[in-house]
Amino acid sequence: MNVPLPKLQQIPHAVASVHDYEPLARERMTAAAWAYLSGGAADEETMRANEAAFARFKLQPQVLQDLRGGHTQVSLFGQTYPSPLFLAPVAFQKLAHEHGELETVLGASAMQVGMVVSTQASVTLEEIAAQAATPLWFQLYLQADRDFTARLIQRAENAGYKAIVLTVDAPLSGIRNREQRSGFSLPPSVSAVNLHGMRLPSMPSVDPSGPLVFGSPLLDTAARWNDIAWIKERTSLPVLLKGILTDVDAERALAYGADGIIVSNHGGRVLDGLPATIDVLESITTAVGGRVPVLMDGGIRRGSDIFKALALGAQAVLVGRPFAWGLAAAGAVGVSHVAKLLRMELEVTMALMGCRDLANITRVHLSN
Ligand code: FNR
Ligand code: LAC
Repeated sequence: MNVPLPKLQQIPHAVASVHDYEPLARERMTAAAWAYLSGGAADEETMRANEAAFARFKLQPQVLQDLRGGHTQVSLFGQTYPSPLFLAPVAFQKLAHEHGELETVLGASAMQVGMVVSTQASVTLEEIAAQAATPLWFQLYLQADRDFTARLIQRAENAGYKAIVLTVDAPLSGIRNREQRSGFSLPPSVSAVNLHGMRLPSMPSVDPSGPLVFGSPLLDTAARWNDIAWIKERTSLPVLLKGILTDVDAERALAYGADGIIVSNHGGRVLDGLPATIDVLESITTAVGGRVPVLMDGGIRRGSDIFKALALGAQAVLVGRPFAWGLAAAGAVGVSHVAKLLRMELEVTMALMGCRDLANITRVHLSN
């Protein structure tokens, strides 16, 4: 058993980029919790591809542009955000820090980055909202208990959340080999507290003469396209779909009333073999043609990655593991430092590319 080191009280000078947080986080988590946080599905090809694919797009700068009055503000769903960077929903943040999401929201607030709170947060959505000085969105996993789900949506709206993010790419957990090999299970102090009191369907024992996974209550009660209308009847908040990877599904999302799309493969954690998100982004933003905002996540580790996503038509991006590394390494300070590094790198990239605001970032700034 490794013994996790205590959290850093200050950030060492050697931490110059987001990736520098990875080893610092690892030393401060148990091996099993680290496997959960950092791992992906099966052979982790999609997870690796997410990061690697950014390098294939090269920047094409325009020099001597007027950069006066530059900024990175973005408007989404009637709200202005200082930067197009959001913290992705990441479940069970108490695995990374004893205060979990309460630390994260402090760090997010310090840098004014929007935070998406997971249905599987390890702190109640109301407690997180009470600490927030930055806009929050609520990530929804539709539960078999629909009455409970309706109350969850209502709770998020009452607590002041600004959007509902329905995750559509994980009706069940993927094949998580790294996690299995590590023997990961949630410690007793960490649970999905927002789901306490929910009715759980009973899991029938598997009959090997039939399917092993199909027929389980998880799949029989999983979200379907018509559920979007059901959600929209229960909230006035914008509803985004997270986990769209094709133009066909983007069109369906719009037809069924989605107010926004998040191009995502869940950080390569659910289905291995999916393409890198940056590789499918442009075809989706082109198909959507500005009818609703398109966001993306997966593999963003640099401000220049954010720039590339925006040049391919995204309005904003989310990061998952990077801020979780900051959280595990140094709590709220680590989260805000990760956000600061990415925001700063984005601004430096924009200035060197000749773009003084996000509207100036276009496809001509990328080759390939
Ligand atoms: C996630 N992700 C995720 N997504 C979601 O919709 N609900 C969730 O509860 C979680 N939980 C979760 C836990 C952990 C430990 C990780 C790393 C990720 C996926 C997340 O929102 C996002 O899509 C990816 O993390 C983006 O990829 P990067 O930035 O981690 O490469
Ligand atoms: C995960 C689930 C909780 O990625 O979405 O671990």
